[in-house]
Amino acid sequence: MEPLQQARERIDRIDAELARLFAARMEAAKEIAAWKQAKGLPIRDPKRESEVLARNLEQIENPALRPYYRAFQEGLMTCSRAYQAQLLGRDPAALLSVRTAAGAYPVYLQRGGLAEAGRLLDLNRRVFLLSDDGVPNEYSRTLGGQCKQAICSVIPQGEGSKSPAQLHALLLQMLDAGLTRNDCVLALGGGVVGDLAGLAAALYMRGIDFYNVPTTLLAMVDSSIGGKTAVDLGSVKNAVGAFWQPKAVLIDPAVLKSLPARQLSNGMAEAVKMSLTHDPALFACFENPNGYGPVEDVIEACLQIKASVVEADEREGGLRRVLNFGHTLGHGIEAASDGKLLHGECVALGMLPMCAPDLRARLTAVLEQLGLPTAIKLEQIDPARVLAAVAHDKKMQIGDEVQTVFVPEPGRFQFRTASLETLHAALSSLLVH
Ligand SMILES: NC(=O)c1ccc[n+]([C@@H]2O[C@H](COP(=O)([O-])OP(=O)(O)OC[C@H]3O[C@@H](n4cnc5c(N)ncnc54)[C@H](O)[C@@H]3O)[C@@H](O)[C@H]2O)c1
Repeated sequence: MEPLQQARERIDRIDAELARLFAARMEAAKEIAAWKQAKGLPIRDPKRESEVLARNLEQIENPALRPYYRAFQEGLMTCSRAYQAQLLGRDPAALLSVRTAAGAYPVYLQRGGLAEAGRLLDLNRRVFLLSDDGVPNEYSRTLGGQCKQAICSVIPQGEGSKSPAQLHALLLQMLDAGLTRNDCVLALGGGVVGDLAGLAAALYMRGIDFYNVPTTLLAMVDSSIGGKTAVDLGSVKNAVGAFWQPKAVLIDPAVLKSLPARQLSNGMAEAVKMSLTHDPALFACFENPNGYGPVEDVIEACLQIKASVVEADEREGGLRRVLNFGHTLGHGIEAASDGKLLHGECVALGMLPMCAPDLRARLTAVLEQLGLPTAIKLEQIDPARVLAAVAHDKKMQIGDEVQTVFVPEPGRFQFRTASLETLHAALSSLLVH
């Protein structure tokens, strides 16, 4: 037999064997899909995928073949995900889907995802694209170019934009642009833009579609999912708002390249918060002296936690209050700091006295490593103002006491009530001369 003929026959035999193995692999994927459905787990498991890929690549001795093998293995994984998604009626590109009373919505976590927005979101309509003047223009141009018709609105950056006046101005712009109930609002920015755009979407024509494309770490790990939208009223934060779930959330970690370091640390504070109440392994990453690893992994771990809490308690009747860990004192400090401290920085401070003593020491080291504050100078804050703000936080009050979340060890939390005297002592433990 000719050598060519022999080689072709060998390939035919290998391909037949591969087809048999492929079918067996998909059968196993089907079993895993049923298990993931029962446990409420996402289809994608990037950590396992990269482990499998690295392990199998080691089997390929010829380095010239490795890029081809990588493409082959990634193709297999794409097929598995797509098959599982089809079986479960889910979106294969989504990291997870958040189930709410109004239905489920996908969360996409994809480096470079901004350029894929037209494929992932329904932008084939009028899109009211809101961002603020701190968000680089190039992101808005990338998104706008994928919309059938983009109406771009840019508000001043900062908490001051979360006002009824700004909301009113936006609603008028939407009306002037002729937005109908079939059009949508897209938030491109941090928590300020997301909270404001979400509320505008909830109110306009009794509610239109809303997409959230977070660009700060805080918004990626926390505020972009869960459906809480609000503006501030007078000096009271988030006093007017609505629960309005997004149609989809698209997270592109590449946009963090332009985020100032202080804002990155600000977001990390919320990630540390979630690791303490729910994920000891994530807290261990923060304690790692070599750094916490890829930011995608941190975002993903937080999204899983936030989604599970929101699914269990969409309207903050109980469990969702765990997300307020560090926020009781944190909100008070934020209110009394007159905008000098960022939200995450205040949460970092607020968490410290709400941990068991040995954990407080570990948390202090983690926060310092992340560039977050662990104490406040007495001349920077008026303790009486902090406590007055805590006492006015009606949401947290139970009689004369205030509801707090206490963490005895990473991964465990307790709801506790505390008197204002107890909180005064807790605050004092943060003050230095
Ligand atoms: N809805 C919720 O569940 C929820 C949860 C937590 C916090 N929040 C709210 O979120 C708000 C805070 O959000 P935040 O911390 O994202 O602050 P932010 O929205 O004010 O953004 C911080 C700053 O970063 C800039 N910025 C945003 N993206 C950027 C990028 N990629 N590159 C460079 N600069 C960028 C902005 O212009 C702004 O100046 C607060 O109003 C808070 O109440 C809401």
